[in-house]
Amino acid sequence: MSRTVYVNGDWLPEAEAKVSVFDRGFLMADGVYEVTSVLDGKLIDFAGHCTRLDRSLSELEMTNPHSDDEWLEIFRQIVARNAISDGMVYLQVTRGNPGDRDFAYPPADLPPTVVLFTQSKPGLADSPAAKTGWRVISVPDIRWHRRDIKTVQLLYPSMAKMAAKKAGVDDAWLVEDGFVTEGTSNNAYIVKGNKIITRALSSDILHGITRASVLRFAKEAQMEVEERNFTIAEAQAADEAFITSASAFVMPVVEIDGTALSDGKVGRVATRMREIYLDEMRKAAL
Ligand code: PDD
Repeated sequence: MSRTVYVNGDWLPEAEAKVSVFDRGFLMADGVYEVTSVLDGKLIDFAGHCTRLDRSLSELEMTNPHSDDEWLEIFRQIVARNAISDGMVYLQVTRGNPGDRDFAYPPADLPPTVVLFTQSKPGLADSPAAKTGWRVISVPDIRWHRRDIKTVQLLYPSMAKMAAKKAGVDDAWLVEDGFVTEGTSNNAYIVKGNKIITRALSSDILHGITRASVLRFAKEAQMEVEERNFTIAEAQAADEAFITSASAFVMPVVEIDGTALSDGKVGRVATRMREIYLDEMRKAAL
């Protein structure tokens, strides 16, 4: 079934949803994006995604074209128009179409290009992978140094994902100066006893919206949270590991670079955090 796609205020059948070849997003990867999950037709962690969108735009000197309330209305409409029960809403805002190619930014009053589409994923929260866990490999992190801005420059994460696929595993963890930064499209964690360890926020990683919620719930559940660097060797020796993202929620990791963690089964903490996250987020969904 053809999706209804949002392009600059218009609702179009996907085959008619088009942007210019001169769009800065196409020519320069000059744009930002957000992925927001939908469960039971409702938006998960919407406020967090709105706040980060605003920050990404302002870091790139772009004006947010909508208020949070206007975004909510657009998001709700796209979910309803596509009858999404479980899935994702993809939003991209680029610096727009200046009508030519130039490294310098166009004038600030050029309207941005705003595109939204949906991805239907029935049973998104019941992913069988959550029962068996992901296997990951490590690869060098050679991305640029503003990973805190959620830009559409995703070529290296795509290359890392392909390296993982070629190695027959699920994802890659990126390593810089000997320490894990994050996964290709998720934040990375290890668990030791009652302690969850994850890299501290900085421009080295994306400030995950799921990360913020999971760490809050972990503290509420009397878990200890330590925000610090860890190595692949420390992760391989940990009790458990997991990743978080808007689309995978909390996903256990059971193997890193061919080494099984503990007994190679999904961990108790990761499983519990996934349950808490999904329960709480469903309650707060908009
Ligand atoms: N990716 N780190 C990176 C590099 C990411 O691309 C993502 C999200 C995250 C997790 O952030 P959040 O919890 O806000 O989803 C961390 C999305 C899901 C994507 O690109 O599809």
